[in-house]
Amino acid sequence: MRLIIRDNHEASRIANYIKERIKQFNPTAERPFVLGLPTGSSPVGTYKHLVRLFKAGELSFEHVVTFNMDEYVGLPRDHRESYHTFMWTHLFQHVDIKSQNVHILDGNAPDLDEECRKYEEEIKKVGGIELFLGGIGPDGHIAFNEPGSSLKSRTRVKTLAYETIIANARFFDGDINKVPKLALTVGVATVMESREVAILITGAHKAVALAKCIEEGVNHMWTVSAIQQHPKAVLVCDEDATLEL
Ligand code: GLP
Repeated sequence: MRLIIRDNHEASRIANYIKERIKQFNPTAERPFVLGLPTGSSPVGTYKHLVRLFKAGELSFEHVVTFNMDEYVGLPRDHRESYHTFMWTHLFQHVDIKSQNVHILDGNAPDLDEECRKYEEEIKKVGGIELFLGGIGPDGHIAFNEPGSSLKSRTRVKTLAYETIIANARFFDGDINKVPKLALTVGVATVMESREVAILITGAHKAVALAKCIEEGVNHMWTVSAIQQHPKAVLVCDEDATLEL
């Protein structure tokens, strides 16, 4: 596991890295590059840079297939805070990705367990995820794998931790009552099975989580710590996030 500390330039660095990986892979329609993607404020800068690279003609998503980490349950797809809206607003509508290559869990599916099962199947069908980009919550969750999640977990329905509801209330007019209480999320094992994982961690409020993730043992109470056992993982963080190291 590598730790890269970069103030200010972490977003362009990670976007350039994604560009290079896609180029090296040289994807085709038959052999697309499969990219796992997060939401939250952490990846916004990276998405901006990816759009810039696309507009500069340096990157194409034509043969890129994406799988998002998670989605709220019960929030209408076109709600301003749904992860569908987030992804189309920040990335997909600005690049040449084909809509059939975009995968985001449907938090309004009639059978949520079936939706999760199908998602895992779709990931398998395309040969697994090449690179999973992720963020973490202040409680060390990756995707919505809240403290206590099994490190062997797969895509499933998850009840959000109270800390996460509080942390995400800023997107819902600061009102915790408006934050959905359930989400669909890929599991810790789903993320760890990808061939490469890159996690973005910024801000002093993530400092404890970063310290727990890399300085203590692998622990299901800080689910991102599972990354220690990944053969090819990188954490990209700013100085503030290193305060507790
Ligand atoms: C939510 C998402 C996570 C994300 C986290 C961090 O909880 N489900 O996948 O990593 O937010 O968000 P932010 O980057 O805004 O701190």
